[in-house]
Amino acid sequence: MYFLRFYVFLSSVVYVYLLKEDGDEDLCSLLKGFKPSVSVELRNKGFHREVVTSVELGSEAPGDVRALLVYTWPRGVYLDPNQLASLRDLRDWQMLFNTTIDLEEPAQRTSAFLTYVYPPQTGPSPGPLTVTIPVHGRYHKPSFDGKSFTPVHIELPELLLWTEKCTPFQRLEPHRLLDAPCNASNTSICSWIQIQHTHKNSKPLSLHLPVGDGSAVTLVCAGTLLVTVICCAVLCHSILKHQIT
Ligand SMILES: *[C@@H]1O[C@H](CO)[C@@H](O)[C@H](O)[C@H]1NC(C)=O
Ligand SMILES: *[C@@H]1O[C@H](CO)[C@@H](O)[C@H](O)[C@H]1NC(C)=O
Ligand SMILES: *[C@@H]1O[C@H](CO)[C@@H](O)[C@H](O)[C@H]1NC(C)=O
Repeated sequence: MYFLRFYVFLSSVVYVYLLKEDGDEDLCSLLKGFKPSVSVELRNKGFHREVVTSVELGSEAPGDVRALLVYTWPRGVYLDPNQLASLRDLRDWQMLFNTTIDLEEPAQRTSAFLTYVYPPQTGPSPGPLTVTIPVHGRYHKPSFDGKSFTPVHIELPELLLWTEKCTPFQRLEPHRLLDAPCNASNTSICSWIQIQHTHKNSKPLSLHLPVGDGSAVTLVCAGTLLVTVICCAVLCHSILKHQIT
C-alpha cells in the first residue's frame, strides 16, 4: 500500500516534469517551424532612393515577439541622420547607427556601416511591419574605362527576433543567437534569435549611380590650366604695358 502511494507520487512528479518540458518545447519548437517572410523593395531613381522593407511574422508568432532588422549598408550609399530625425514624427520605427555618418565624403573615402532598425511593436497582429528608409548615393571616383554608371549592391536585411517566453533558449536549431541592443536607446544588450526567414523577392538590390569620365577629367583640368595661363599672360601683358606708358 505504502509502496503504491509512493509510486503514484513519483509518477505524478515525473508527469508534471514532462508536462513542463513539453510546454517549453512547444513554444521553442513553434519558433523552430516559424518562417516569417521579409520583402525588400528599392523605390525611386537616381541618387535619392527609398528602401522599403515589409516583415510578415504571421499569426502563429508569440504575442510578445519583437523584431529587429539589421542592415549592412555599402560604402556607396549613406543615410542622413538629420533627415531621419526630421521624419521622427512621421515614422513609427527607430534606428541606431553603429558609426557616425559623414554626408559629404565620396564613396572611396568611407566604409560600410550597420544600422539596427526597430519596427513598431504590434504584438500578434497579422499585418506586415513596414519600414521605409531614405537612402542616398555617394559620389564616386571618376571612371577611366569609359563606364558612365557604377553599380552599388545593397544587402538584404537580417531579421532578428526576441521573445521572453522562449528564454533561456534551448534547442533552437537551425536558428542562431546574436547579441544586439535591446531597443533604440542602446542601454542594454539582448540575445536575439537570428531567424531563418524567406526573402519574398530574393534578388539583391542594386543602384546604378552615374560617375564622371576620368579621361574627361584630365581634359577639363588641362583646359582649365591652359585658360588660366592665357588669362594671366594677357593680364600681365596689359599691366606691364600700362605701367610703361
Ligand atoms: C551602444 O552603446 C555602446 C556603449 O555605450 C557603444 O559602444 C556601442 O557602439 C553602441 N552601439 C550602437 C549600435 O550605437
Ligand atoms: C560598423 O559596421 C560595419 C559593417 O559591419 C563595420 O565594418 C564597422 O567596423 C562598424 N563600425 C564600428 C564603429 O563598429
Ligand atoms: C529600452 O530598454 C530599456 C531596458 O531594457 C528600458 O529601460 C527602456 O525604457 C527602453 N527604451 C525604450 C525607448 O523603449
